[in-house]
Amino acid sequence: MRPHLRLCTAAPLIVACLFCLALIKTHAEFHSPWGLTSDTSESAVPGPQLKAQLNHHIVTLVENVTFDPYHYVSVGEVRRISNAQEGYHMSGYFDKSPWSADGSKLLYQRMEFYDRGMSAADVLQIGIMNMASPKGPQLEFLANTTAWNFQQGTMLQWLGWSDSVIIFNSRIAHNKFVGVMYDIVHRREVATLPLPFYSINYNGTIAVSLNFARLYVARPDYGYAVDEAIQAEEKAKKCPDDDGVWVMMDIRDTANVKPRLVVSIQKAFEAASQEGLKDPFTQQEYGGVFRNLDPRDIQRECLHWVNHAQLNREGTKVLFLYRVGHCKYWRGFKTFVFTVDVATGELWRVPLTHGSHHDFGWDDNLISCDGSGYYHAKFKTFAVPLRRPEDVARGGDGHCSFAPTSNQFILSDTYPRPIPGFHAPARTLFTWDLVRNRTTIVGYYSPVSEGKHGTTRVDLHPRWSRDGRYVCFDSTHEGLGRQVYVAKVYSKALVRPGVDVVTRPPRKFFLDLGARTGDSVEKMLIKPHTDYSDYIIHAFECNPENMPLVRSGLDRLKAEYKLHPENVVLVEAAAWIQKGTLSFHMDTRTAGNDGQPGKTGGSLFDSPHARGSVVTVPSVDFSEYLESTVQYIDHVICKIDIEGAEYELLAHIIRRGSIILCDVIMIEWHSRFRTEWKGWDAEFEAMMEQLHIPVIKIG
Ligand SMILES: *[C@@H]1O[C@H](CO)[C@@H](O)[C@H](O)[C@H]1NC(C)=O
Ligand SMILES: *[C@@H]1O[C@H](CO)[C@@H](O)[C@H](O)[C@H]1NC(C)=O
Ligand SMILES: *[C@@H]1O[C@H](CO)[C@@H](O)[C@H](O)[C@H]1NC(C)=O
Ligand SMILES: *[C@@H]1O[C@H](CO)[C@@H](O)[C@H](O)[C@H]1NC(C)=O
Repeated sequence: MRPHLRLCTAAPLIVACLFCLALIKTHAEFHSPWGLTSDTSESAVPGPQLKAQLNHHIVTLVENVTFDPYHYVSVGEVRRISNAQEGYHMSGYFDKSPWSADGSKLLYQRMEFYDRGMSAADVLQIGIMNMASPKGPQLEFLANTTAWNFQQGTMLQWLGWSDSVIIFNSRIAHNKFVGVMYDIVHRREVATLPLPFYSINYNGTIAVSLNFARLYVARPDYGYAVDEAIQAEEKAKKCPDDDGVWVMMDIRDTANVKPRLVVSIQKAFEAASQEGLKDPFTQQEYGGVFRNLDPRDIQRECLHWVNHAQLNREGTKVLFLYRVGHCKYWRGFKTFVFTVDVATGELWRVPLTHGSHHDFGWDDNLISCDGSGYYHAKFKTFAVPLRRPEDVARGGDGHCSFAPTSNQFILSDTYPRPIPGFHAPARTLFTWDLVRNRTTIVGYYSPVSEGKHGTTRVDLHPRWSRDGRYVCFDSTHEGLGRQVYVAKVYSKALVRPGVDVVTRPPRKFFLDLGARTGDSVEKMLIKPHTDYSDYIIHAFECNPENMPLVRSGLDRLKAEYKLHPENVVLVEAAAWIQKGTLSFHMDTRTAGNDGQPGKTGGSLFDSPHARGSVVTVPSVDFSEYLESTVQYIDHVICKIDIEGAEYELLAHIIRRGSIILCDVIMIEWHSRFRTEWKGWDAEFEAMMEQLHIPVIKIG
């Protein structure tokens, strides 16, 4: 037996009291914001009645988190949404969502051919599938552009959180491109940006631009077709200092937009040639260096360019590939991955990765994937390889992205490869849950007639819906040419349509119930989570003997791990089902059960380590605390090691509905001390499974 009697629990008085309330049948009603109505007299006495009550609440809560007003398909289903009789279709690149913020409309594009290179005259049509129409799903094509390519289309996307304004690139003269904002309700262009854009921040206020003519020369699949003269001009400029990653601020004030060069191609080249073997901030090795080549030869002889410039969601950093090639030193080209600060122009080269595809999550967290694997990194803070739970992505690169509101989920794919038992080499589409350490295969898709040249290949380029439940991808597997498909990958929404609007980064919380000396913060948050410094920590402790230890313990963690002082909150009270005071039986031992000074005992229950004197401690209503502290879109880890009080506490937060605010529950069960709750560990786990809340057992 390993008793961890850390938390204070309720006095038997309270249990007895709930009981008498039930007996005198006071029917005071409680209405939670989740549509649950419960009788406050409902007792927490374990038994069939409680089980039925809680399961009834779970059904309501599951309905709430799985509510889907624009049902495209069911979980596990894949549906083609483009009409194959009307042409060939694509959705766009994997780093942007084609869904409108409310989830009702999906953008996509139509072309007349898909298996040969395009010219400056070839038209791409811009369309919308409207699921909210009273007449049923409506497909409409609204505008045309000749600024596009087969890999990324025309950068088509919604402007920030708008459900009515979209933005795409357009050709206004033979070799001149711009970004266009288009109002789909009034069917007209509403504004023009001086340069074509490559990416936009989540709020739709800042844009990044690259030179698409230069991209056409370096990699035709990512540029826009231009004539020979322009191509020759670009080829002549080997390593320009007046071109690179451009930023346009305040793009809604279109009359005053002045593009600014944030980093030139030459500056990126210089940074790439000067570096050592290791990143000075993370001490991690770089994915590759120029090694024995003389940088002056490379500068003079090779073509240098930048690509995949993704603005972070906040609009403060750009993640991009600096590439060099078209010379005798490499067969293809060499890639370096950089992040640049939009305000200062400061560069940070991302270590470990060789660079191929990437995506920014919130808080400067990024994911980069290439032939050598998947990496998670944060600007000047850390870089770590992500270990794949299964071999789905072995042998390769993929198009990887973080879910719109949570770095817990990754969506990615593979290039075509042999699949055991499958008729032909296929691309694999999968989701990856980092908390459960589980990948889920959405499907295998074999390419059919994708043209002779690599430039017309149809990568799946999977894209998330804003609520994190759907993915949209392009594929030729049906033999109908390139078409657009939608699959549902989760039934629970990360953002509930019509309820939550993500205009700010979702926050990350670690709620530590039974904090003891702060040791669990270090063990369960800091050690296993590289992004721990993004977390807001609320530590609950009520054992008076532990109080000085937890205060100094948290101070030590703040100093040692450079945690923001405001992000560490100590709540000197028991997390319980109501605000008030409780009787707490002290632990009589001189040390914790691990030999450390923090007391691990103390409780109200009949436990061998709670036979000391009885003291009075404050308690808080944890459900109220949750509701006033976090929101549904936040990523919340609830760590519960509260010495047997977990049963009443869970019953309480299920009744109140606030349990759905926890995204992960880490728990130590104590039914060994609370024999009346025997068998309930599995009951509660099943309820949490229904709510799609992963349960991690600790202790
Ligand atoms: C789910 O709960 C929220 C409150 O958190 C409420 O606004 C919303 O209407 C509920 N949705 C459904 C479908 O019950
Ligand atoms: C777009 O081009 C298609 C054919 O390429 C044409 O039928 C359609 O009328 C054009 N639409 C607009 C809005 O110009
Ligand atoms: C988006 O804009 C809103 C309103 O100006 C602001 O409060 C919010 O912080 C912005 N969000 C991001 C991620 O920049
Ligand atoms: C995830 O599971 C794989 C085995 O499938 C294992 O090798 C890896 O260590 C696990 N990762 C974590 C973080 O537990």
